[in-house]
Amino acid sequence: MGLRFIFMLTRNDKTVDDAEKHLQTALAAGVHHIGFKDVGLPFERLKKLNQSIKKGGATSYLEVVSLDRDSEVASAQAAVEIGVDILLGGTNVDAVLPIIKGAGIQYYPFPGKIVGHPSTLEGTIEEIAASAKDLSSREGVDGLDLLAYRSREDVGKLMAAVCAVTDKPVIMAGSIDTKARIADVKSSGAGGFTIGTAALDGIYPAQGNDLDAQLRSILKDVADVNDHVSRFSTKNLDESFSKFTETWSPRIAGQVNNMMIKLAKFEGEFVWHHHAVEDELFLVHKGSLMMKFRDRDEMVHEGEFIIVPHGVEHCPVAMSDICEVILLEPATTVNTGNTEDDRRVTNLAEV
Ligand code: NI
Repeated sequence: MGLRFIFMLTRNDKTVDDAEKHLQTALAAGVHHIGFKDVGLPFERLKKLNQSIKKGGATSYLEVVSLDRDSEVASAQAAVEIGVDILLGGTNVDAVLPIIKGAGIQYYPFPGKIVGHPSTLEGTIEEIAASAKDLSSREGVDGLDLLAYRSREDVGKLMAAVCAVTDKPVIMAGSIDTKARIADVKSSGAGGFTIGTAALDGIYPAQGNDLDAQLRSILKDVADVNDHVSRFSTKNLDESFSKFTETWSPRIAGQVNNMMIKLAKFEGEFVWHHHAVEDELFLVHKGSLMMKFRDRDEMVHEGEFIIVPHGVEHCPVAMSDICEVILLEPATTVNTGNTEDDRRVTNLAEV
C-alpha cells in the first residue's frame, strides 16, 4: 500500500492564522489529505476551513491537541460539528467513541502516554506497542496516530513495533522533514505521515522554500518512495524541458510498460526515416511542428498530437525556433529509424 502524505496547516501544534491561503496553495499543488488542529483559530474559521478542504476534493483531518478529558470531549464534539473526515489523536478513547459514533468520522487516537504542549510521547517501546495493540483492537478505532518523532526511544524501532501489532493504518506525526525520514516511515509499515511546520517554514529540501515548491517536492519524494511516478503537470513539464538545451536528443521522462515517454526539443528540419516496427506519437508541448510525409505535410500545434504508424516515412520539422515535443514510443525506437545520421542517439539520458 502506498504511503499517504497529510499536510497539516499547523505550526508548533497550532493551526496557522493564514491557513486558508496555504490551503489553496496545497490544493493547487495536488495535496489531497489536509489537516488542522483544534487550537489556533476560532471554531467558525475551522468550520469554514474544513468546508474549503472538502470543496477542493480533499480528505480533512482534525488532530486533537488538548489532552485532558473535558477538552478532548469538546474537541470530539467540534469534530462532529465541523464534519471532518478523520479525527487524529487524543487519548480518552472511552469518552470520544460515543460522541463520534454514527457521525461517519474515522478515528485514529494516540497510543502511549502524551505529555505537554507541544506534545511528547513518553514510555518505552514495549509500553507504547502494548497501548497500540489495545487501542487498535477497539471497535470504532480505525487507525493510530503515533507521535513517533516526539519519543526519546529509537524511532525506527518504535514505528516498526507499533505497525507490527496492528493491521490498521498507523500515521506517523512530528518532525518529518527529509526524504530519508519518509523512506524510514514507509519501511516501518506505516500508512501515512504528517508534515506541517517543515513545509510552512521552507525547511524541507526543495527547489524553493515557498510552500508550493515545498509541497511539490514532498509529493515527488512520496511518489518515489511509494515507487509511483509522480504526475507531470504543466508546471513541472516546463521545468523538465528547461533542464536541457540539446535538440534532436530525446530525454526519458517515464515508462508505461514497454512504452517510453520522452521529452525532445526540435529545431529546423530532421531527417527522412521510418521505423520498421515502432509506431510513434508526437504531442506538441510548446511551438508547432510540421510532420512531412511523402504524400503530404501535416501541421501539429500546441496541445495536439500526431501518430506516425510504423513503416511510414516521415520527417519532422520545427516550425517555431524550438518546438518542445512529448514522444510516446516503444523502448526500442531510435530517433533516426532506418537512416544513418549524425543526430542518431541510442543511449538516452533521463530528464
Ligand atoms: Ni521517427
